[in-house]
Parts: sequence; C-alpha cells; structure tokens
Amino acid sequence: MRITVIGTGYVGTVTGACLAYLGHHVTCVDTDAAKIARLQRGESPIYEPYLEAMLSLGAERGGLAFSTEISDAVRASDVIFIAVGTPPLPSGEANLSYLEAAARSIGSSMDNSRFRVIVNKSTVPVGSGNLVEALVREGIGEARAGERIRFGVASNPEFLREGSAVADSLYPDRIVVGGDAATLAVMRQLYEPLVAQVFTPPPGVPRPSSMISVPLLTTSLTSAEMIKYAANAFLAMKIGFANEIANICERVGAEGPEVMAGIGLDSRIGAKFLNPGVGWGGSCFGKDIQSLLHTAREYGYSSKLLEASLEVNTAQRQMVIQKLQEKLFILKGRTIGLLGLAFKPDTDDLRDAPALHIAERLMQMGVRVKAYDPIANRACREQRPDLKMRYCDTPKELASGADALVLVTEWREFHNLDLAELAGLMNSPILIDGRNFFVPETAIAAGFDYSGIGRCTRARAVRVETVAS
Ligand SMILES: NC(=O)c1ccc[n+]([C@@H]2O[C@H](COP(=O)([O-])OP(=O)(O)OC[C@H]3O[C@@H](n4cnc5c(N)ncnc54)[C@H](O)[C@@H]3O)[C@@H](O)[C@H]2O)c1
Repeated sequence: MRITVIGTGYVGTVTGACLAYLGHHVTCVDTDAAKIARLQRGESPIYEPYLEAMLSLGAERGGLAFSTEISDAVRASDVIFIAVGTPPLPSGEANLSYLEAAARSIGSSMDNSRFRVIVNKSTVPVGSGNLVEALVREGIGEARAGERIRFGVASNPEFLREGSAVADSLYPDRIVVGGDAATLAVMRQLYEPLVAQVFTPPPGVPRPSSMISVPLLTTSLTSAEMIKYAANAFLAMKIGFANEIANICERVGAEGPEVMAGIGLDSRIGAKFLNPGVGWGGSCFGKDIQSLLHTAREYGYSSKLLEASLEVNTAQRQMVIQKLQEKLFILKGRTIGLLGLAFKPDTDDLRDAPALHIAERLMQMGVRVKAYDPIANRACREQRPDLKMRYCDTPKELASGADALVLVTEWREFHNLDLAELAGLMNSPILIDGRNFFVPETAIAAGFDYSGIGRCTRARAVRVETVAS
C-alpha cells in the first residue's frame, strides 16, 4: 500500500520505517526541514536502537521517502497516519494545534482518485477522530465539496516504548484500531503482515520465540481513543503502587523489591512495572493522565485515583533528596553526581525526566550538580541551557570529588562500572540507587554507603528459587 506518515518524531519515524520494512511504500512528512534533511541522508534524528538500520532496510524493501511537502504524498496515498506531537497545555488539556494543522493540510491535499484512510496515531482525547474528520472536510473546502472526496478516519493508538520501539512495532502485544467497517477493512489489509507475522525479522531484532501472531482488536473510534489513555494510566498507577508499598516497606523493615517479587509472581498482577524507584517520566504518562483527567472533568467526573497517581510520582522524585539529606545533613555547597539523565535507558529523550527534576531541586538548594549520561549529555546541554550542571564524559569524572552519587537512569552499561574505583574517587562514598539497579551487597563490598528505594538497612539481593528441571 502507499502510505504517508505525518510527523517524524519517535512514533512517526519508527512507524514509517517499519511499515516500509513490511513492504509498503512510505513517505514521511514533517514541517521541520532540518529533521527531514537528516532523514534524507539516512540519519535518525533521535537515538533509538536499530532505527537507522531499519531506515535503510525500509528504503530497500517497500521504499521510504522524506519530505516537507505534504500534498503529493497525500494524493498518492491509501493511508495517511497522523503522528504529530500532542503536548500538554498548562491546563493539562492536550494541545491539538499540530493535529489540527495536519488534518487541515490533509484535506486541502486530497483529490477524488481513491478512498483514503486517515489514521490518528498520535495520542488524542476522545472525540479527536470526529474533530479530524471535520477539519479534513474544512481543508477540502466548500469549492471542492461536490467532488465526492471519499475518506474514513481511524484511531490506531501507538503502544511502542522508546528504547525498544522497533521491536515493539514489529512484535506488538496487540494492535488496536477503531473506525467504521470500510476503514477497518483497509487497516486489516495494511497490518496483515504484522498480524500474521509473515515477514523475515530484521537483523538484530528477532521475533520473540513465543510469538505466532498479533491480536488485532477492532473497536469503535471512541473506545480505541480511550484504550490508549487507560493503558498509560494503568501502567503509571502500577509503578506508583509499587513505590507506595516500597515506601511503607522501608519504614517497617521489609525489602520492597522482595515484596514486589512476591506479588509479581501472582499471574493476576504480573511482575512488570513493579520495580520501586524514583518514579516514571517521559513524554507520555504525565501528559496522558493530565489529558484523561481533563476529559473526565469535562464530563463532570473527578478521578481521585488518577490524581493520586500524579501526586505519588512527584513525591517519589523528592525521595532522593530526602535520602541525600539523611546521609549528608547539609546539602548546600555539596557536589552530587547524577548517573543518567534520560527518562529511561536506550533513549536520549529528556521529556519529564526525573533526573532533570532532581537536578533542578538540588540546584535550588545550593548543590553543585554533575551529570553523566552515555547518550543524553548533548541533548540535555542543547535543550536545557538553563540547567547549569557540569557534564562529565566518564563515570570516573562524575565520581571525582563528589559527596554522593545518585543513579537515576538504569543504563545497562552501568553494570560494568568499577564501583570500588568510583567509591575511591569520591569525597564521601554515598550511593543513592534510584532504580534499585545495583546488587546491594556488591555496592557495600565496594566501599559504598548504599541506599536503594524501598529497601531497609538489611540490604540484600532478591532471590527467587525455582526447582531446576
Ligand atoms: N514517544 C513515545 O514513546 C510515544 C508512544 C506512544 C504514543 N506517543 C504519542 O505519539 C504522538 C507523537 O509523539 P512523538 O514522541 O513521536 O512526538 P515528537 O514530538 O517526537 O514528534 C512529533 C513530530 O511532528 C512534527 N509535526 C508537528 N506538526 C506537524 C505538521 N503539521 N505536519 C508535519 N509534521 C508536524 C514535529 O515537527 C515533530 O517532528 C504523541 O501524541 C504521543 O503522545 C508517543
């Protein structure tokens, strides 16, 4: 099929590359000329594992083009994905101005040569499908209203996670599509290779051994829009729940990670998203919960659970500062090193990153903040010139002369750190492990005064014993 993807951010670029890999002919369009120029050179504008390889494989297989010009792409397309940003307004409401602009320009580009499906892949509040339809009609304009320009609107929320976006797109847990019968028929055809898993996996991104096919859930437009918000709200709440319980564990002398392992083995609960830590961040959870709360309020409903999810998460970031105060008493004039800046490993995305929140708070308290992130140092320097941190090129430089280290992002490469060497370089070897990433005994043996999150003083690794078969 011929496809246009509007917006070449985390979602649009990955979606475009993967659909091209499956054999569709894709044109990705963005208003940001610098991004398009980089993509035309085969460079990914974001750090995302395997994305650059997928861009070149997609170009070889289905065909993948990049442009700042929307009209020709839309006219040649059967399916047009909208994957533009929907950032929060100060009220919490989603800013739909990018979506609105995209819908209008789709309308003004359409002709009557074929039936087209316009797909909302951006996370948008309930009712946005109807809004897109109205704006496309507005874009078509009264002058061309008699041309019988045929189109349908689908909601196809995206569930990929940054850091594993390519694998998540090729091997998703499910595909959700909302729309009418004619629209769903086109979307079924589009996703057939993914649903049936009939493609050869790209190098480095193997198919999970248990995967035979992908469930395709077809729903009403409104349900599909709601599913995305409900999924993100649940995941954020699950993390918040783990943190709440872990905070109680710490006070009563229980080990938070052991308790989480104990409840996670219950198949009704599941082990994922139960790791106590400094809380979630990123571009989606906070904004999506705010947007859902806004929608609920519009309908006269106030959700205490969703509000509490946001509060619990903000308080959790403060936990690190409390722990530093418990260890160092006076923070003013101290030097604290942050291990990791990105909101999670394997991405350079800094949107709503806990590390930046913690850095801001510490600097307000008169602390000198140093930071080391294997990937996101440069993005942070560029995007947050207001944060006067010292960026370090190595973990050793970070540890030198620091009064404490705080692990905020659990990059895999931190497993290879020589903890004894780092401890030896510090003013005082205090380690606040904001992700319960290190094995406490190992950190303590290396000379650190170690604290995790939700861990009592009897620090030890979680052990789950199973009978070997
Ligand atoms: N990032 C994620 O992990 C993720 C996961 C699932 C869903 N989502 C949702 O997907 C949507 C996109 O997120 P993202 O992280 O990819 O955003 P992003 O900010 O990385 O990218 C959005 C892109 O859209 C472009 N754009 C804006 N207006 C445009 C227009 N009129 N025409 C063409 N291009 C335009 C911007 O220049 C930008 O490159 C959001 O609604 C988000 O909530 C994101």
